Amino acid sequence: MNSQHLIITIDGPAGVGKTTLARRLAQSLGIAYLDTGAMFRVVGWMFKQKDPGHDEEKIRKLLEGIRFSLEGTGWESFITFNNKRPGPEIRSEQAGMWASNIGRIETVRSFLKNAQQKIGASASLVAEGRDMGSVVFPEAPYKFYLDASPGVRARRRQSQLANMGQQADYKTTLDQILKRDAQDKNRAIAPLKPALDAIVIDTGPLNPEQVFIKMKERLGPVFANH
Ligand code: DC
Repeated sequence: MNSQHLIITIDGPAGVGKTTLARRLAQSLGIAYLDTGAMFRVVGWMFKQKDPGHDEEKIRKLLEGIRFSLEGTGWESFITFNNKRPGPEIRSEQAGMWASNIGRIETVRSFLKNAQQKIGASASLVAEGRDMGSVVFPEAPYKFYLDASPGVRARRRQSQLANMGQQADYKTTLDQILKRDAQDKNRAIAPLKPALDAIVIDTGPLNPEQVFIKMKERLGPVFANH
């Protein structure tokens, strides 16, 4: 990691509000927002198309054909793969599960970690994901871990999906959240957990503005310099 660049990490489970906060923070600081979930979703989608199974050689070949890069800053930040922007198809709950499935594979995690660290070496970032503070950017000076109960997150996820025109009932969404939580928290490599030096914020009783204020307090010196 290049110490000239500022890296702020935001980790936590699905539906906790990470994306809203990460994008807002990046926008306020005029730096890039890195959506690592999108990278996992793209790879999960490709696995669905090309079905490499457990064949290491095929997995490597598939990964070698994907080049990620990060464009823009703040609200206008977006990930591209092979110079294309991922489409809305990667945003479904099903695609989230595929992303979580391939997130258990060591070759995939080390490929994506490498790609994420390369991006972090070239720009200041707010990096959002599951293992940003614990594994990918362990030396980041500011780390947040957002949490909330599964019920609260299922409600939020439902309204996010509704905003994207996807209807999902509460019970199904809650089940999907619990399943994805279990898989992300219990995998052998880089499981979802707060980094030891992360600030943990329970976003359950807070609105996004209140979470933002808490983060801003913590980031005091960074805001003073921007
Ligand atoms: O943040 P998201 O819902 O877009 O992430 C989709 C899945 O991708 C998530 O359930 C697990 C995986 N993921 C991961 O393992 N590590 C990351 N840093 C980001 C996402």
